[in-house]
Amino acid sequence: MTRHITTRFSFVLGDNGAAPIDLRFKIASEKDADVAARELLLDRVFGPERFQKTSEKLRVNQAPAPGLALVAKTTVGALIGTIRLWPVFAGQKHCALLLGPLAVCPSAKESGVGSALMQQALARAKLQGHASVLLVGDADYYNRFGFEQRFTDRLIMPGPVDPKRFLGRELIPGALSGAAGAVTPVVRLTRHQKLSALAA
Ligand SMILES: CC(C)(COP(=O)(O)OP(=O)(O)OC[C@H]1O[C@@H](n2cnc3c(N)ncnc32)[C@H](O)[C@@H]1OP(=O)(O)O)[C@@H](O)C(=O)NCCC(=O)NCCS
Repeated sequence: MTRHITTRFSFVLGDNGAAPIDLRFKIASEKDADVAARELLLDRVFGPERFQKTSEKLRVNQAPAPGLALVAKTTVGALIGTIRLWPVFAGQKHCALLLGPLAVCPSAKESGVGSALMQQALARAKLQGHASVLLVGDADYYNRFGFEQRFTDRLIMPGPVDPKRFLGRELIPGALSGAAGAVTPVVRLTRHQKLSALAA
């Protein structure tokens, strides 16, 4: 089910008294038809080097957790923000979600779009029963959503990351307690792979 939530309704005056800019937007589940616009936005915000990030190793050939790929759109349907969460193992005994990339169109920055995407994503993840979220990003931004370095002290990403940027947040208190070891993707088997495994 796709839920649409109007999270902001405001107008600001353009520069030099130009026409007002409409800052209304909605958060919705990402659809197949959004993928091209989402990729263009990510290219624009992060450039081609985004595919070299360590977090990408946990996302390549994987799918986001069901219902946890969200977009922000203007009232005329322009995609101005994206966020996705990916199922991972945090060490051998803990399940978590890896958050990212989170990106907002430069022309819509600092209008609450990033915060709305974060809050919706975290609320939906919690509602679905997920216990914790990991990410690599600016602590100055993510601290306000409860992300802290102390939750990832003993976790190891599959490549180089600045420890100050490797952050975690518990959705269920204590969920990351004792989490240690490698962060690895939760590999989803295709129907064909499941049948092959059963036949073997
Ligand atoms: C970071 C990003 C997602 C924030 O989204 P946004 O819609 O612009 O932010 P919001 O309107 O929700 O929040 C604005 C607040 O965040 C702060 N902020 C924005 N980016 C920040 C950053 N990188 N570090 C610290 N604070 C930041 C702003 O100063 C502002 O603070 P205030 O509320 O105290 O005034 C967006 O700017 C973006 O896509 N940036 C480029 C890609 C990126 O850096 N992605 C994730 C971080 S690793």
